[in-house]
Amino acid sequence: EEEIAAYKDRIKVLLKERNAVLVAHYYCDEHVQALAEETGGCVADSLEMARFGKNHPADTLLVAGVKFMGETAKILSPEKTVYMPTLDATCSLDLGCPEKEFSEFCDQHPDRTVVVYANTSAAVKARADWVVTSSIALDVAEHLAANGEKVIWAPDKHLGSYVQRMSGADMILWDGECIVHDEFKGKALADLKKVYPDAAVLVHPESPQAVVELADVVGSTSQLIKAATELPNKQCIVATDRGIFYKMQQAAPDKELIAAPTAGEGATCRSCANCPWMAMNSLERIEKVLKEGGEEIFVDEEVRQKAMKPLQRMLDFNA
Ligand code: 13P
Ligand code: SF4
Repeated sequence: EEEIAAYKDRIKVLLKERNAVLVAHYYCDEHVQALAEETGGCVADSLEMARFGKNHPADTLLVAGVKFMGETAKILSPEKTVYMPTLDATCSLDLGCPEKEFSEFCDQHPDRTVVVYANTSAAVKARADWVVTSSIALDVAEHLAANGEKVIWAPDKHLGSYVQRMSGADMILWDGECIVHDEFKGKALADLKKVYPDAAVLVHPESPQAVVELADVVGSTSQLIKAATELPNKQCIVATDRGIFYKMQQAAPDKELIAAPTAGEGATCRSCANCPWMAMNSLERIEKVLKEGGEEIFVDEEVRQKAMKPLQRMLDFNA
């Protein structure tokens, strides 16, 4: 604890010296989230992180999350210096959707509107007509369905199939998944619901269909936190990365929060509800990057200009 407080004190000084602001995701370590709040930065879902970074006057953004979040910040604010605690923090959705293959896939379906999740590289976004985050994915799909547009949806197959079922949109899906949410199990969740029959079930839409079907609320990290505060239930079963419990418990202090099961008995899980890339965002790395630099995000200017269009569409949607 003392060591953590000392890190935080030193980082606060460095942030001021560099005119830098810390933008963190809810899946980061709780000390990183607390530091972002204490220093006038933000802790948010991926859409809010993008908005905050773009609108904040600081010269430098330090994005604690995964690489697509840093790239999105740089695309939206090319004049700012964007650092991350480590550029090694990637995402299985991003890794599972390489630009070349994706572009070829799009070429095979030239009549379709290309919608990509924010969890993709800048190069993949540059190929897209729309970028969405989980908080607006369904609204955008409904909008496109109402216009009669046929859609390519990438890369998350679980988010895609949820959105397809709910919106009725004509969609073909890329075969990608989040290694964290893919681990939640419908059967084990149904069993847990029997133990806590009065609990509300809050599910991130990157989870498999069997899990989503048991949900009372499906939404982005911010939407799930809001639901925990607003629902009358005293208990909530939560199917998303366990990093969310820090803010969710703060927002709903009187609620009992229960982690959804990640694997059946005897099975192993790859991530156990804790994203290995989000976990790389340590106080130690934050201090190091503020002191020594490195780990800076650069996006090729031509790619940036192309990726800006679908990202701007995302920001303007619902705005
Ligand atoms: P949201 O915070 O937008 O719900 O996204 C979750 C996510 O996949 C971040 O890795
Ligand atoms: Fe990617 Fe899943 Fe980790 Fe989010 S939690 S960064 S979607 S692997």
